[in-house]
Amino acid sequence: MPDNQFNTMKTDILIIGSGIGGLATAIHIAEERPDLKITALTKTNEEESNTRYAQGGVAAVWDKEVDSFDKHIADTLDAGDGLCDGHIVEIVVEEGPERVQEIIQWGTRFDKQKEEYDLGREGGHSENRILHYKDLTGWEIQRSLLEKAEQLSNIEILEHYFAVDLITQHHLGYNVTRLMDDIECYGAYVFNKQTKNIDTILARVTVVATGGAGQVYRNTTNPVIATGDGIAMVYRAKGHLENMEFVQFHPTALYNPAGENPSFLVSEAVRGFGGILKTREGEEFMDKYDSRKSLAPRDIVARAIDNEIKQRGEECMFLDCRHLDEAGFRGHFPTIYDKCRSIGIDPMKDMIPIVPACHYMCGGIKVDEMGRSSIRRLYACGECTCTGLHGANRLASNSLLEALVFAQRISCDVLPLIDSLGHKEGIPDWNASGTTDPKEMVLITQSLKELKEVMSSYVGIVRSNVRLQRALDRLDLLYRETEELYHTTTISPQLCELRNLITIAYLVSRAAAMRRESRGLHYTTDYPEKLGFVQRSIL
Ligand code: FAD
Ligand code: SIN
Repeated sequence: MPDNQFNTMKTDILIIGSGIGGLATAIHIAEERPDLKITALTKTNEEESNTRYAQGGVAAVWDKEVDSFDKHIADTLDAGDGLCDGHIVEIVVEEGPERVQEIIQWGTRFDKQKEEYDLGREGGHSENRILHYKDLTGWEIQRSLLEKAEQLSNIEILEHYFAVDLITQHHLGYNVTRLMDDIECYGAYVFNKQTKNIDTILARVTVVATGGAGQVYRNTTNPVIATGDGIAMVYRAKGHLENMEFVQFHPTALYNPAGENPSFLVSEAVRGFGGILKTREGEEFMDKYDSRKSLAPRDIVARAIDNEIKQRGEECMFLDCRHLDEAGFRGHFPTIYDKCRSIGIDPMKDMIPIVPACHYMCGGIKVDEMGRSSIRRLYACGECTCTGLHGANRLASNSLLEALVFAQRISCDVLPLIDSLGHKEGIPDWNASGTTDPKEMVLITQSLKELKEVMSSYVGIVRSNVRLQRALDRLDLLYRETEELYHTTTISPQLCELRNLITIAYLVSRAAAMRRESRGLHYTTDYPEKLGFVQRSIL
């Protein structure tokens, strides 16, 4: 390809992702340093993200007469099943309310009752502490952060730019290994969906805020953009990852026999409002599993539902809301009510059919308390990270909070440092030689289907040695076929996403096979007990 088809751009801070993690980081830095150029990328349009679909809300200690930091800390540690980093839990819980106050000042609205915020309850929380905006909290946060970012002239959001790979010394011809502690990130190669070229974006600091990877499973609440790109890119760049085996399945996605991707979420806040899990015959079953019944932490509820479905040979279990006040239900959950009605279910007259669906990655890019990854000049924020907050199972509504706290911390770390960092010279353009246009898209779409089947059948809520080995064998073949395709055809976002999802699937399966115990979200029939010591799975 002739050189003039390539475009190299320089920015001060490159942020890959424009959900809550990316936008909050951009805003903090932009407000403090109007002279810095901040470029945020999004692979589709700026509104689309996991953030946009968040329903329940943001957990934060608000009513100090009833609630306390100690209680929120204890709930987070309890859900995390011994694997949380206590120091990080304290940081997030204690700094959280100030960060939430900040986004309120930036324009985020939360529901109130009279003058006070209407605090909701979700599984694993001992107090009402969830700030929410109806059942559209994420939509409201995404809206307000985008509006705030637009007011800051030094933030540029580039839509339809797909980050392909992080640039490190590897691209200058050096041998880079995972054991090195001086890997540096100089920016990213990005696929410009309009020109179909791979552009080079050079940055003094890069932040990965690419969200989750739910699309690695057949049923997921995550939108189709959630393909784990950032986690896979950091892994390829030889950065460290942690706790990849802990994949959270949300207990209550709407069961829609017609099938839909993503699955529609029925918020845990509905159970916090009084909804009760029942069998088709209308019997409660959660008391067999946990004294907190329908409001036990997610790992316990999802496993219980999975078990009931399998034992009874059913397609789904049910959420009974028929006893709840109709006006209250419709006021709090207008989207859920409308969605149920659209598939012929009246939540006031019928029980809502539900199934567990992949919802959240507790593991990811290992970062320290300032959001620094193991690669220099590279930070990460939001769902793509493993900060130590969630441990083996995330407490509901702690994810948005974590992103807000770490966004501010990243800005505190970057600001004193940025002036000492320059742009790296001599970075080559993307090398597309020897590749041709793909002829058969079916090679990509079919592999994606197979991948989701493998993960759903063998690496789901209940695992075993045999299932995990089978998954790893199947993934090996998919990996080899896809690498061959990747190296011989021109790049497309679909091919990159498939490649990234295969990496995620491998990492989840590998970490799961390494963990010889059952803890939090990882349950294996071969090792049903918890070990007496804490083992972290670093990849
Ligand atoms: P996202 O919001 O997913 O943003 C990712 C961004 O990265 C997007 O802009 C995307 O385009 C971009 N991107 C990804 N890959 C690339 C690439 N290769 N190149 C360029 N750009 C890229 N959490 C809570 O705390 N409370 C809740 O109530 C709650 N409810 C939820 C409900 C649903 C249905 C779902 C799916 C999740 C929910 N969560 C909730 C989890 C929470 O929403 C997410 O963890 C959080 O929003 C993730 O934010 P993020 O900024 O890390 O990523
Ligand atoms: C929900 O509303 O149930 C989702 C909350 C979360 O994932 O934190």
